[in-house]
Amino acid sequence: MARLRVGVLISGRGSNLQALIDPAAAPAYPAEIVLVISNRPEAQGLAHAARTGIAHRPIAHSERALFATEANAALRQSGVELVALAGFMRILDTSFVEAWRDRLVNIHPSLLPAFPGLHPQRQALAAGVRFSGCTVHFVRPEVDTGPIIAQAVVPVHPDDDEKRLAARILAAEHRLYPMAVRLFAEGRLRIRGNVVEVGGMPTVDGALFNPPEALASAGG
Ligand code: GAR
Repeated sequence: MARLRVGVLISGRGSNLQALIDPAAAPAYPAEIVLVISNRPEAQGLAHAARTGIAHRPIAHSERALFATEANAALRQSGVELVALAGFMRILDTSFVEAWRDRLVNIHPSLLPAFPGLHPQRQALAAGVRFSGCTVHFVRPEVDTGPIIAQAVVPVHPDDDEKRLAARILAAEHRLYPMAVRLFAEGRLRIRGNVVEVGGMPTVDGALFNPPEALASAGG
């Protein structure tokens, strides 16, 4: 069966891009990365694409509308069916977001709608939450909003700083994003208003505690 053609937009390191490239090496994975675009020519992530022989190009227009027009044309030329933002740190023109409505996804390192925007890990630490995590969602024009596809929860440790928390969340991102793209590729996502239904999804049960419940029962 033909695999879903995915275009990935990056701005930097590209570890989530790599996490999307890796499973696509298996022919049974239902999606493949066919184009990588970076708004920064020096983005490290472009090298991941180059190494794997994936078409890649910088589009460095400072004007939002010009970037949107060029990126849109390149994606369509490559026959892209789903656009995945992977550490893409620029606000997209509304025309682009609307043109790819329900075929444009993003990963963000917090449990949205908490902590949108910049430095979500710093925001989580400042808020004193016991859990944070990451979210893959369909993109709507407002920053870090849109129907949620999947989330992973990550505990915040008492001695965390921004770097340690970001690394723990990033490890979860690398598992979550390929899973979400697979669900899309398999046609298992239905958007109803702001809610995404996942076909064949088993119920997730149980509660996580932080601090652990045992802390309260141990000492009395
Ligand atoms: C990731 O943590 C991603 O979730 C975040 O930037 C990092 C990029 O890392 N994206 C956002 O904050 C978007 N709002 P990567 O370049 O190694 O994938």
